[in-house]
Amino acid sequence: MRILTGDRPTGRLHLGHYVGSLKNRVRLQDSYECFFIIADLHMLTTRPEKEAVAAITSNAREMVLDYLAAGIDPQRSVIYLQSAVPEIYELNLFLEMLVTVPRLQRLPSLKDMARNANLSEMPFGLLGYPVLQSADILLPRAHLVPVGKDNEAHVELTREIARRFNNLYGEVFPVPDVLIGDVPTLVGTDGGAKMSKSLNNAIYLSDDARTVEKKVRGMYTDPKRISADVPGTVEGNPVFVYHDIFNADTEQVNDLKQRYRTGTVGDVEVKEKLALAINTFLDPLRERREHFATQKGLVDLVIHEGTMRMRDEARETLVAARRAMGLSGVWNSIRRKAEEAGKRRDA
Ligand code: TRP
Repeated sequence: MRILTGDRPTGRLHLGHYVGSLKNRVRLQDSYECFFIIADLHMLTTRPEKEAVAAITSNAREMVLDYLAAGIDPQRSVIYLQSAVPEIYELNLFLEMLVTVPRLQRLPSLKDMARNANLSEMPFGLLGYPVLQSADILLPRAHLVPVGKDNEAHVELTREIARRFNNLYGEVFPVPDVLIGDVPTLVGTDGGAKMSKSLNNAIYLSDDARTVEKKVRGMYTDPKRISADVPGTVEGNPVFVYHDIFNADTEQVNDLKQRYRTGTVGDVEVKEKLALAINTFLDPLRERREHFATQKGLVDLVIHEGTMRMRDEARETLVAARRAMGLSGVWNSIRRKAEEAGKRRDA
Protein backbone atom coordinates (compact mmCIF):
# COMPACT_ATOMS: atom_id res chain seq x y z
CA MET A 1 0.00 0.00 0.00
CA ARG A 2 1.14 3.49 -0.85
CA ILE A 3 0.95 7.01 0.50
CA LEU A 4 1.30 10.18 -1.48
CA THR A 5 1.30 13.60 0.09
CA GLY A 6 3.44 16.71 0.17
CA ASP A 7 3.60 20.48 0.31
CA ARG A 8 4.24 23.54 -1.76
CA PRO A 9 7.81 24.67 -1.14
CA THR A 10 6.98 27.96 0.55
CA GLY A 11 9.78 27.63 3.11
CA ARG A 12 10.00 26.38 6.65
CA LEU A 13 7.30 24.16 8.14
CA HIS A 14 5.58 25.01 11.44
CA LEU A 15 3.78 23.22 14.28
CA GLY A 16 0.51 23.37 12.33
CA HIS A 17 2.05 21.35 9.51
CA TYR A 18 3.37 18.89 12.05
CA VAL A 19 0.11 18.08 13.84
CA GLY A 20 -1.97 18.45 10.66
CA SER A 21 -0.09 15.98 8.51
CA LEU A 22 3.63 15.50 9.17
CA LYS A 23 3.05 13.45 12.31
CA ASN A 24 0.85 11.01 10.40
CA ARG A 25 3.46 10.67 7.68
CA VAL A 26 6.17 9.79 10.16
CA ARG A 27 3.91 7.31 11.94
CA LEU A 28 2.82 5.55 8.74
CA GLN A 29 6.28 5.07 7.25
CA ASP A 30 6.50 1.55 8.66
CA SER A 31 3.24 0.35 7.16
CA TYR A 32 3.19 2.17 3.80
CA GLU A 33 5.46 2.86 0.89
CA CYS A 34 5.67 6.66 1.06
CA PHE A 35 5.95 9.25 -1.70
CA PHE A 36 6.39 12.89 -0.71
CA ILE A 37 5.99 15.54 -3.36
CA ILE A 38 7.66 18.93 -3.38
CA ALA A 39 4.81 20.62 -5.23
CA ASP A 40 6.65 23.41 -7.01
CA LEU A 41 4.27 23.44 -9.99
CA HIS A 42 1.45 24.29 -7.60
CA MET A 43 3.41 27.40 -6.61
CA LEU A 44 3.05 28.63 -10.16
CA THR A 45 -0.74 28.71 -9.86
CA THR A 46 -0.55 31.86 -7.75
CA ARG A 47 3.09 32.95 -8.16
CA PRO A 48 4.28 32.44 -11.74
CA GLU A 49 6.83 35.29 -11.67
CA LYS A 50 10.47 34.51 -12.20
CA GLU A 51 11.45 35.87 -8.78
CA ALA A 52 9.07 33.41 -7.13
CA VAL A 53 10.47 30.54 -9.16
CA ALA A 54 13.98 31.58 -8.13
CA ALA A 55 13.04 31.11 -4.46
CA ILE A 56 11.91 27.50 -4.95
CA THR A 57 15.33 25.83 -4.71
CA SER A 58 16.24 27.05 -1.26
CA ASN A 59 12.66 26.71 0.00
CA ALA A 60 12.58 23.10 -1.19
CA ARG A 61 15.86 22.31 0.59
CA GLU A 62 14.59 23.94 3.77
CA MET A 63 11.34 22.00 3.62
CA VAL A 64 13.00 18.64 3.03
CA LEU A 65 15.31 19.30 5.96
CA ASP A 66 12.15 19.86 8.03
CA TYR A 67 10.80 16.50 6.79
CA LEU A 68 13.98 14.75 7.85
CA ALA A 69 14.06 16.60 11.18
CA ALA A 70 10.46 15.54 11.81
CA GLY A 71 11.51 11.93 11.42
CA ILE A 72 10.90 11.05 7.80
CA ASP A 73 13.47 8.43 6.89
CA PRO A 74 15.14 9.19 3.55
CA GLN A 75 16.17 5.53 3.23
CA ARG A 76 12.56 4.40 3.08
CA SER A 77 10.66 7.33 1.59
CA VAL A 78 10.66 8.79 -1.90
CA ILE A 79 10.94 12.58 -1.74
CA TYR A 80 10.75 14.14 -5.21
CA LEU A 81 10.50 17.37 -7.16
CA GLN A 82 7.17 17.63 -8.99
CA SER A 83 8.37 19.77 -11.90
CA ALA A 84 11.11 17.26 -12.72
CA VAL A 85 8.66 14.43 -13.42
CA PRO A 86 7.35 15.04 -16.97
CA GLU A 87 4.49 12.52 -16.70
CA ILE A 88 2.70 14.77 -14.20
CA TYR A 89 1.96 17.30 -16.94
CA GLU A 90 0.65 14.55 -19.17
CA LEU A 91 -1.59 12.87 -16.62
CA ASN A 92 -2.87 16.31 -15.59
CA LEU A 93 -4.16 16.85 -19.12
CA PHE A 94 -5.95 13.51 -19.22
CA LEU A 95 -7.63 14.22 -15.88
CA GLU A 96 -8.72 17.71 -16.94
CA MET A 97 -11.18 16.04 -19.29
CA LEU A 98 -12.88 14.24 -16.42
CA VAL A 99 -13.97 17.21 -14.31
CA THR A 100 -16.30 20.15 -14.98
CA VAL A 101 -15.56 23.84 -14.49
CA PRO A 102 -18.54 24.41 -12.11
CA ARG A 103 -17.32 21.52 -9.92
CA LEU A 104 -13.99 23.31 -9.52
CA GLN A 105 -15.58 26.73 -9.11
CA ARG A 106 -17.54 25.48 -6.11
CA LEU A 107 -14.34 24.72 -4.13
CA PRO A 108 -13.92 27.39 -1.41
CA SER A 109 -10.17 26.71 -1.20
CA LEU A 110 -9.57 28.10 -4.69
CA LYS A 111 -11.44 31.32 -4.04
CA ASP A 112 -9.41 31.75 -0.83
CA MET A 113 -6.16 31.19 -2.69
CA ALA A 114 -7.09 33.68 -5.40
CA ARG A 115 -8.03 36.26 -2.77
CA ASN A 116 -4.88 35.70 -0.71
CA ALA A 117 -2.78 36.16 -3.85
CA ASN A 118 -4.64 39.40 -4.67
CA LEU A 119 -5.94 37.98 -7.94
CA SER A 120 -9.19 39.66 -8.98
CA GLU A 121 -9.98 36.95 -11.51
CA MET A 122 -9.36 33.20 -11.41
CA PRO A 123 -6.40 32.05 -13.52
CA PHE A 124 -7.09 28.92 -15.57
CA GLY A 125 -4.18 27.15 -13.88
CA LEU A 126 -5.38 27.99 -10.38
CA LEU A 127 -8.82 26.58 -11.22
CA GLY A 128 -6.91 23.46 -12.21
CA TYR A 129 -4.94 23.32 -8.92
CA PRO A 130 -6.94 20.38 -7.50
CA VAL A 131 -6.78 18.53 -10.83
CA LEU A 132 -3.00 18.81 -10.79
CA GLN A 133 -3.08 17.62 -7.20
CA SER A 134 -5.17 14.65 -8.34
CA ALA A 135 -2.50 13.88 -10.94
CA ASP A 136 0.10 13.95 -8.13
CA ILE A 137 -1.90 11.48 -6.07
CA LEU A 138 -2.81 9.15 -8.93
CA LEU A 139 0.64 9.11 -10.53
CA PRO A 140 2.16 6.71 -7.97
CA ARG A 141 -1.30 5.08 -7.66
CA ALA A 142 -1.52 5.98 -3.97
CA HIS A 143 -4.04 4.43 -1.58
CA LEU A 144 -3.86 7.00 1.20
CA VAL A 145 -3.35 10.77 1.35
CA PRO A 146 -2.50 12.25 4.77
CA VAL A 147 -3.23 15.98 4.54
CA GLY A 148 -4.47 18.93 6.56
CA LYS A 149 -8.16 19.73 6.72
CA ASP A 150 -7.82 22.41 4.03
CA ASN A 151 -6.92 19.74 1.46
CA GLU A 152 -9.74 17.33 2.25
CA ALA A 153 -12.01 18.57 -0.56
CA HIS A 154 -9.19 18.14 -3.07
CA VAL A 155 -8.77 14.49 -2.16
CA GLU A 156 -12.53 14.05 -2.47
CA LEU A 157 -12.24 15.42 -6.01
CA THR A 158 -9.36 13.02 -6.68
CA ARG A 159 -11.61 10.14 -5.68
CA GLU A 160 -14.27 11.28 -8.15
CA ILE A 161 -11.72 11.65 -10.93
CA ALA A 162 -10.20 8.22 -10.23
CA ARG A 163 -13.64 6.59 -10.34
CA ARG A 164 -14.50 8.39 -13.55
CA PHE A 165 -11.23 7.32 -15.20
CA ASN A 166 -11.72 3.71 -14.13
CA ASN A 167 -15.32 3.70 -15.35
CA LEU A 168 -14.42 5.10 -18.74
CA TYR A 169 -11.25 3.14 -19.43
CA GLY A 170 -10.90 0.28 -16.94
CA GLU A 171 -9.31 -0.08 -13.52
CA VAL A 172 -6.01 1.76 -13.49
CA PHE A 173 -6.15 3.82 -10.29
CA PRO A 174 -6.96 2.92 -6.68
CA VAL A 175 -9.57 5.31 -5.23
CA PRO A 176 -7.46 6.95 -2.50
CA ASP A 177 -8.60 7.55 1.08
CA VAL A 178 -7.93 10.79 2.91
CA LEU A 179 -6.38 10.92 6.38
CA ILE A 180 -6.68 14.13 8.39
CA GLY A 181 -4.32 14.73 11.35
CA ASP A 182 -5.41 14.77 15.03
CA VAL A 183 -5.42 18.56 14.94
CA PRO A 184 -7.02 19.47 11.62
CA THR A 185 -6.26 23.17 12.00
CA LEU A 186 -3.94 24.51 14.65
CA VAL A 187 -4.76 27.93 16.11
CA GLY A 188 -2.10 30.63 15.61
CA THR A 189 -0.05 32.20 18.43
CA ASP A 190 -2.22 35.31 17.94
CA GLY A 191 -5.41 33.34 18.54
CA GLY A 192 -6.22 33.49 14.81
CA ALA A 193 -8.09 30.53 13.33
CA LYS A 194 -5.05 29.05 11.61
CA MET A 195 -1.30 28.98 12.11
CA SER A 196 0.15 30.32 8.90
CA LYS A 197 3.40 31.72 7.63
CA SER A 198 1.63 34.58 5.89
CA LEU A 199 -0.24 35.58 9.07
CA ASN A 200 3.00 35.76 11.02
CA ASN A 201 1.58 33.67 13.89
CA ALA A 202 3.64 30.51 13.52
CA ILE A 203 6.17 28.60 15.60
CA TYR A 204 8.54 26.86 13.20
CA LEU A 205 10.01 23.39 13.59
CA SER A 206 13.39 25.06 13.07
CA ASP A 207 12.92 27.81 15.69
CA ASP A 208 15.56 27.74 18.39
CA ALA A 209 14.66 27.55 22.08
CA ARG A 210 14.98 31.30 22.66
CA THR A 211 12.69 32.10 19.72
CA VAL A 212 10.09 29.67 21.03
CA GLU A 213 10.24 31.28 24.48
CA LYS A 214 9.78 34.71 22.96
CA LYS A 215 6.88 33.68 20.74
CA VAL A 216 5.11 31.89 23.59
CA ARG A 217 5.58 34.88 25.91
CA GLY A 218 3.80 37.03 23.31
CA MET A 219 0.92 34.60 22.79
CA TYR A 220 -2.70 35.61 22.86
CA THR A 221 -4.58 34.30 25.93
CA ASP A 222 -7.81 35.18 27.70
CA PRO A 223 -8.01 38.99 27.15
CA LYS A 224 -10.37 39.45 30.12
CA ARG A 225 -7.69 38.27 32.49
CA ILE A 226 -5.93 41.47 33.47
CA SER A 227 -4.26 39.98 36.56
CA ALA A 228 -3.37 36.54 37.93
CA ASP A 229 -6.27 36.46 40.42
CA VAL A 230 -8.99 36.83 37.76
CA PRO A 231 -10.56 33.46 36.86
CA GLY A 232 -9.79 32.69 33.22
CA THR A 233 -11.19 30.65 30.33
CA VAL A 234 -9.32 27.53 29.33
CA GLU A 235 -11.54 26.34 26.47
CA GLY A 236 -10.31 27.61 23.12
CA ASN A 237 -7.50 29.55 24.82
CA PRO A 238 -4.54 29.03 22.44
CA VAL A 239 -2.08 28.64 25.31
CA PHE A 240 -4.06 25.68 26.63
CA VAL A 241 -4.76 24.33 23.15
CA TYR A 242 -0.98 24.07 22.74
CA HIS A 243 -0.53 22.63 26.24
CA ASP A 244 -3.01 19.88 25.37
CA ILE A 245 -1.13 19.03 22.19
CA PHE A 246 2.54 19.50 23.09
CA ASN A 247 2.82 19.07 26.84
CA ALA A 248 3.27 15.38 27.62
CA ASP A 249 2.83 16.01 31.37
CA THR A 250 -0.97 15.69 31.60
CA GLU A 251 -0.96 16.12 35.35
CA GLN A 252 0.82 19.44 35.06
CA VAL A 253 -1.60 20.58 32.34
CA ASN A 254 -4.64 19.66 34.46
CA ASP A 255 -3.18 21.47 37.46
CA LEU A 256 -2.52 24.61 35.39
CA LYS A 257 -6.03 24.53 33.95
CA GLN A 258 -7.61 24.17 37.38
CA ARG A 259 -5.57 27.06 38.79
CA TYR A 260 -6.26 29.20 35.72
CA ARG A 261 -10.00 28.72 36.10
CA THR A 262 -9.87 29.72 39.75
CA GLY A 263 -7.50 32.64 39.27
CA THR A 264 -4.57 31.15 41.18
CA VAL A 265 -1.91 31.04 38.50
CA GLY A 266 -0.25 33.78 36.48
CA ASP A 267 -0.05 33.79 32.68
CA VAL A 268 3.73 33.96 33.03
CA GLU A 269 3.91 30.54 34.68
CA VAL A 270 1.48 28.98 32.20
CA LYS A 271 3.52 30.33 29.32
CA GLU A 272 6.90 29.39 30.79
CA LYS A 273 5.73 25.80 31.20
CA LEU A 274 4.36 25.82 27.65
CA ALA A 275 7.61 27.09 26.17
CA LEU A 276 9.44 24.36 28.05
CA ALA A 277 7.02 21.71 26.74
CA ILE A 278 7.32 22.88 23.12
CA ASN A 279 11.09 22.99 23.40
CA THR A 280 11.12 19.47 24.85
CA PHE A 281 9.00 18.38 21.91
CA LEU A 282 11.29 20.14 19.40
CA ASP A 283 14.61 18.97 20.88
CA PRO A 284 14.75 15.61 19.05
CA LEU A 285 13.83 17.41 15.81
CA ARG A 286 16.68 19.85 16.40
CA GLU A 287 19.08 16.97 16.91
CA ARG A 288 18.03 15.25 13.69
CA ARG A 289 18.16 18.53 11.77
CA GLU A 290 21.71 19.04 12.95
CA HIS A 291 22.59 15.48 11.94
CA PHE A 292 21.26 15.90 8.39
CA ALA A 293 22.24 19.52 7.83
CA THR A 294 25.91 18.87 8.57
CA GLN A 295 26.16 16.27 5.80
CA LYS A 296 26.89 18.46 2.82
CA GLY A 297 24.67 17.89 -0.22
CA LEU A 298 22.64 15.19 1.53
CA VAL A 299 19.30 16.92 1.03
CA ASP A 300 19.99 17.33 -2.69
CA LEU A 301 20.99 13.69 -2.94
CA VAL A 302 17.73 12.65 -1.27
CA ILE A 303 15.65 14.76 -3.66
CA HIS A 304 17.62 13.59 -6.70
CA GLU A 305 17.30 9.91 -5.89
CA GLY A 306 13.62 10.29 -5.03
CA THR A 307 12.92 12.07 -8.29
CA MET A 308 14.67 9.40 -10.37
CA ARG A 309 12.70 6.72 -8.54
CA MET A 310 9.43 8.60 -9.06
CA ARG A 311 10.16 8.98 -12.78
CA ASP A 312 10.30 5.19 -13.12
CA GLU A 313 6.98 4.85 -11.32
CA ALA A 314 5.45 7.63 -13.40
CA ARG A 315 6.50 6.06 -16.70
CA GLU A 316 4.82 2.81 -15.71
CA THR A 317 1.60 4.53 -14.72
CA LEU A 318 1.43 6.52 -17.94
CA VAL A 319 1.97 3.41 -20.05
CA ALA A 320 -0.96 1.82 -18.19
CA ALA A 321 -3.13 4.93 -18.55
CA ARG A 322 -2.43 5.43 -22.28
CA ARG A 323 -3.01 1.76 -22.92
CA ALA A 324 -6.32 1.76 -21.00
CA MET A 325 -7.49 4.87 -22.86
CA GLY A 326 -6.55 3.36 -26.20
CA LEU A 327 -4.21 6.25 -26.95
CA SER A 328 -1.19 4.02 -27.35
CA GLY A 329 -3.22 2.05 -29.89
CA VAL A 330 -3.68 5.14 -32.05
CA TRP A 331 0.02 5.81 -32.26
CA ASN A 332 1.02 2.15 -32.51
CA SER A 333 -1.31 1.65 -35.44
CA ILE A 334 0.01 4.66 -37.32
CA ARG A 335 3.60 3.79 -36.53
CA ARG A 336 3.19 0.19 -37.68
CA LYS A 337 1.59 1.22 -40.97
CA ALA A 338 4.25 3.91 -41.47
CA GLU A 339 7.01 1.36 -40.98
CA GLU A 340 5.46 -0.96 -43.55
CA ALA A 341 4.93 1.90 -46.00
CA GLY A 342 8.50 3.08 -45.43
CA LYS A 343 9.84 -0.38 -46.21
CA ARG A 344 7.76 -0.57 -49.42
CA ARG A 345 8.97 2.84 -50.51
CA ASP A 346 12.62 1.97 -49.85
CA ALA A 347 12.35 -1.42 -51.56
N1 TRP B 1 -2.21 21.22 -1.90
C1 TRP B 1 -1.12 20.97 -0.99
C2 TRP B 1 -0.90 22.26 -0.18
O1 TRP B 1 -1.79 22.80 0.35
C3 TRP B 1 0.14 20.59 -1.70
C4 TRP B 1 0.00 19.39 -2.59
C5 TRP B 1 0.25 19.35 -3.91
C6 TRP B 1 -0.40 18.08 -2.20
N2 TRP B 1 0.04 18.11 -4.39
C7 TRP B 1 -0.36 17.31 -3.39
C8 TRP B 1 -0.81 17.50 -0.99
C9 TRP B 1 -0.73 15.97 -3.38
C10 TRP B 1 -1.17 16.16 -0.99
C11 TRP B 1 -1.15 15.40 -2.18
O2 TRP B 1 0.19 22.77 -0.04
